Amino acid sequence: MGHSSVFQYAAVVGASSGMGAEIARQLAATGGRVALVARREAELSALVGEINAGRTEPIAFAYTHDVHCYAEVPALFQNLCRDLGGLDAIFYAAGVMPRITDSEYSFDKDRAMIEVNVLGAIAWLNEAAQRFQAAGKGTIIGISSVAGDRGRRGQPVYCTSKAALDTYLEALRNRVGRSGVRVVTIKPGPVDTPMTKGLDKLPMLVSAPEAARQIIAAAVKGKRVAYVPGKWRPIMAVIRSIPSPIFQKLNL
Ligand SMILES: NC(=O)c1ccc[n+]([C@@H]2O[C@H](COP(=O)([O-])OP(=O)(O)OC[C@H]3O[C@@H](n4cnc5c(N)ncnc54)[C@H](OP(=O)(O)O)[C@@H]3O)[C@@H](O)[C@H]2O)c1
Repeated sequence: MGHSSVFQYAAVVGASSGMGAEIARQLAATGGRVALVARREAELSALVGEINAGRTEPIAFAYTHDVHCYAEVPALFQNLCRDLGGLDAIFYAAGVMPRITDSEYSFDKDRAMIEVNVLGAIAWLNEAAQRFQAAGKGTIIGISSVAGDRGRRGQPVYCTSKAALDTYLEALRNRVGRSGVRVVTIKPGPVDTPMTKGLDKLPMLVSAPEAARQIIAAAVKGKRVAYVPGKWRPIMAVIRSIPSPIFQKLNL
């Protein structure tokens, strides 16, 4: 095993596209073994094939899984840890943000966001927390969003899901931090991925490879909360401090 790998053994949930795919690609490029989890088998096997190309021993492994299948998670988590040979870090990058109009209240879309962005994260990261707490080490990374910092008119439940994820990750950090486990909350601004395809007015848009680079750097440092890119931190501090009656009048 190359000692230069950032994380020797890592799992990425939501690894078939966007930031998760880039995180998996970049971790493998440092020599780490990676488990890739998502629903789309074709995308996953293409990426695993790309990473393993030209190697005598594979370092990337694909697991087709829908995070709605919460009951599958404990066994799948154990399987992928066994296949990898260990686990140093888990990235929860799965997420959905269905398009909604200003007057739309679709419970089906709302439920999907809570199920994937929140419940899936809890199902996966509870498993990792138990394993890492017993080991006295490990890094848990959750991809949240700047969207969790305020309730916005455009995406009520997406914002809610990310605020819930932020709070869960903070509580997890406070619980397992004493055992030497790190919990990193990543709060990206707009990133150029399939999730944002076709959306306009995306301020300070960054590429998925650049976001992944910054996410991995924050994970390695064991930061508590990392905005991606970092200039969102002071901007969101200002946005969070806007009183509610004023925020209601703004188009943010
Ligand atoms: N793009 C942005 O501007 C932005 C900004 C802030 C935060 N984020 C967050 O960043 C994370 C990654 O998003 P992205 O922008 O990289 O979008 P993306 O390319 O759409 O990636 C989303 C990933 O989640 C997986 N996923 C969705 N539903 C799933 C399910 N039911 N079961 C298993 N996996 C599922 C997808 O895989 P399958 O479809 O194959 O299952 C895919 O790998 C999300 O949590 C998103 O909310 C994005």
